[in-house]
Amino acid sequence: MDQPTLLPTRRVGTDTDLLPAYVPLPGLGVLPINAYLIHAREPVLVDTGIAPLRDGFLRALRALIDPAALRWIWITHADADHVGNLAAVLAEAPQARVVTNYLGVGKMGLQQLPLDRTYLVNPGQALDVGDRRLLAHRPPVYDAPETMAVFDTGTRHLFSSDCFGAVMARPAETAASIDKRELHDGLALWARIDAPWLAAVGRDRFTAACRPLRDLAPRLILGSHLPPAVDLDDALYAGLDAAREAAPFVGPDQAALEQAIHAPEPAVV
Ligand SMILES: [Fe+2]
Ligand SMILES: [Fe+2]
Repeated sequence: MDQPTLLPTRRVGTDTDLLPAYVPLPGLGVLPINAYLIHAREPVLVDTGIAPLRDGFLRALRALIDPAALRWIWITHADADHVGNLAAVLAEAPQARVVTNYLGVGKMGLQQLPLDRTYLVNPGQALDVGDRRLLAHRPPVYDAPETMAVFDTGTRHLFSSDCFGAVMARPAETAASIDKRELHDGLALWARIDAPWLAAVGRDRFTAACRPLRDLAPRLILGSHLPPAVDLDDALYAGLDAAREAAPFVGPDQAALEQAIHAPEPAVV
């Protein structure tokens, strides 16, 4: 895969659809970029995909719901892989308000998100969506301080944002279908790339930081950068811990890039 690619949407659990995409990470593999739709009484879109796939993303969303019925767009954080189609979705969803916090409003305000379309929630607070509450949590690993994971109290699904992402060799339907060693290494690699500060965190403090999310005992972990994960909590936390004990990721520099570009083609035997 050498281009960002949308895969077909699918139901991944009660009331919950996945809008999956993958992007290539040159030299490393692929990374999922997931958005989710929660069919609550007041429907919620969790993140909005990436801009290069806008037309397909909007088509896929319209096939799942009339965007005019959307009431909430929960932006887990304001990175480009989460807000890529926010303005386009808002234009088709006049009833929807963007759920974020103070810093999120500031960052998205710089991208011209109008203040009257936002709704402030902080970690530890809940959003009532008619037939359930969505709890905002600060996950133990993140790359932007406004990050808020979402716990759906109706389904016990945890939308974990960048926490528990994995670099993968190829797309997969579920996290359980990935080879265990590959999943472990992919989780650790993503966490080293996305949260290099993990290497400076001691074991006890990190274990304590993970506790609130672990105690939720989610039925399903729905990460932004991982296929749906059931009964894999120990493996997912072990991946984060491996990143904490490893050196932060350092990518290729310009000289390495040019060497790769100019390397002779391997001989065909
Ligand atoms: Fe991020
Ligand atoms: Fe992300």
